[in-house]
Amino acid sequence: MYGTIFSIFVCFIHCAFSTIMKISTEKTDFLVIGGGVAGLRAAIELAPRGSVVVLTKDKITESSTGYAQGGIAVALSDEDEVRIHYDDTIKAGDGLCNEEAVSILVEKGPGFILELISWGAEFDKEGSKLAFTMEAAHSRKRILHAHGDSTGKELERVLINKVQTFPSVSRYNFAFTLDLIIEDNRCIGASILKGNEIINIFAKAVILATGGAGQLFSRTTNPPIATGDGMAIAYRAGALLKDMEFIQFHPTSFYSLSAPQFLLSEALRGEGAVLKNINGERFMPGYHPMSDLAPRDTVARAIVSEMVRTGAMHVYLDLTHLDNDFIKKRFPLIYSTCLQFNIDITRDLIPVSPAAHYIMGGVKTNLHGETSIKGLFAAGEVACTGVHGANRLASNSLLEGLVYGAEAGKTAAMYAEKVKMQDIVQTSRQGGPAPFNFDLKEVKNSLRQLMWEKVGIIRCRESMSDAKTRLGEWDIIIKADFFSRQELEVKNMLTTANLITDAALLREGSIGAHYRSDFKERGEKWQRHTENQKEKGTTWAE
Ligand code: FAD
Ligand code: SIN
Repeated sequence: MYGTIFSIFVCFIHCAFSTIMKISTEKTDFLVIGGGVAGLRAAIELAPRGSVVVLTKDKITESSTGYAQGGIAVALSDEDEVRIHYDDTIKAGDGLCNEEAVSILVEKGPGFILELISWGAEFDKEGSKLAFTMEAAHSRKRILHAHGDSTGKELERVLINKVQTFPSVSRYNFAFTLDLIIEDNRCIGASILKGNEIINIFAKAVILATGGAGQLFSRTTNPPIATGDGMAIAYRAGALLKDMEFIQFHPTSFYSLSAPQFLLSEALRGEGAVLKNINGERFMPGYHPMSDLAPRDTVARAIVSEMVRTGAMHVYLDLTHLDNDFIKKRFPLIYSTCLQFNIDITRDLIPVSPAAHYIMGGVKTNLHGETSIKGLFAAGEVACTGVHGANRLASNSLLEGLVYGAEAGKTAAMYAEKVKMQDIVQTSRQGGPAPFNFDLKEVKNSLRQLMWEKVGIIRCRESMSDAKTRLGEWDIIIKADFFSRQELEVKNMLTTANLITDAALLREGSIGAHYRSDFKERGEKWQRHTENQKEKGTTWAE
């Protein structure tokens, strides 16, 4: 009763607030939505060619990029070759990679890393040479890292510094993108929410670099910003999305009822850590010839099997046999974080269980970052270039953000040369009134639990049909207009959850990170891609 009265009051305030909201207009040559590796690298490419506005919905340092631990994969060591990096990427992608996209990634990758070093990036070294580590499914040591286990922070530092050298780039932090502005099937800007103001920013070209969607799942390694906004925004604008069913679950996220979720980098296993069940038995050798360094999907499912078999909520990661000083020096962030929760990783076993980590699917792009909508480009985790196929090779995404962020920037700049400065058009919000009979915080929690339980590591028609029924009950939220970040995120999360579930239902087969207990084989149509588009629904790609 009090809940209902409160909700009506909130709705009244909400409606009153939204009607008095100030609306203003701005113009820029290029609008980059997202300030992680992909957005920043795109902005650097665009900066000499016009005015650039970079948007982030939180602080610039709140991105998956900033939290990246293990490193960045690149064929630069003496014992490695571009061809071997290519082969490992294709193998991890389980037959669904775009081979051309992979070639571009691995061939251009070394140049982009050398460029980063020339801008001041300090990767860890052994003596005078770069140090490379191992991660799952790599057949060579090829992962560069910085400050041990804070590689993302170093990339972020260098890219932000570089961006700041260009007076043509402005940054708007805490600026939430509501929607793209589309006119005659062309993207001409975006509406953003900044404080109590809506700003319509018109641009010759827009680059979407909003990152991933891990927050759709109750267990995730992703930071709170990863709510799948870019996918939902692009979908509402009519863009094609591809392979949304492919979610990568990282095998080792810290498990504790009293601690926040925290990634325990695969590099720990790369340096010799092993998984044990709660009885202290190693189990990975029985599941895969690559043992603890088997592909992530295999390790994640093996952990689930062991948890079920032993009736436990977690397994353990064991580093205690490694040299103590080496561990502290090599993994300072992980060491100090675990210590805060009374786990000394040099002496104690670490409780771990899998968590949603990365989405391979996203807004479909060609090799140059062009989406199906003119004037709209996409790069980084929000995009699906086809590089990762059905499963991403560890540490390939930072590299993808650099290579394809720059490519999207370059292509957008060429496109803008042919486009005259956008005329300002009137925009209107098209959603319905905000529903007052939902507690959106509660919806968010339920949604995250639902996706984890029904569309998670192991899925089937029955579980996903249940998920669809529940998602249907929240349809009214998807159709409503909201004017706060929290509400908009829930709306976007629901939209993206539907896209993932629809694609996962369509793919009746198991491939890469998509595992269906009711279709354990690959399925007849395994070599095809799924697509979602507002007009067409969820279909197989032509
Ligand atoms: P992000 O870095 O996530 O940036 C997204 C940006 O978009 C943010 O600035 C955000 O504010 C903005 N944004 C989002 N929505 C909106 C909106 N509505 N309006 C305005 N702005 C918006 N990959 C590796 O290759 N190596 C690793 O070692 C590695 N470790 C990882 C560890 C962790 C804990 C996590 C979570 C991921 C890791 N990954 C790693 C994956 C990798 O970090 C990400 O895939 C990559 O950083 C994504 O970069 P991005 O630029 O696409 O997005
Ligand atoms: C990790 O450090 O385990 C994450 C690496 C990645 O996701 O690429």
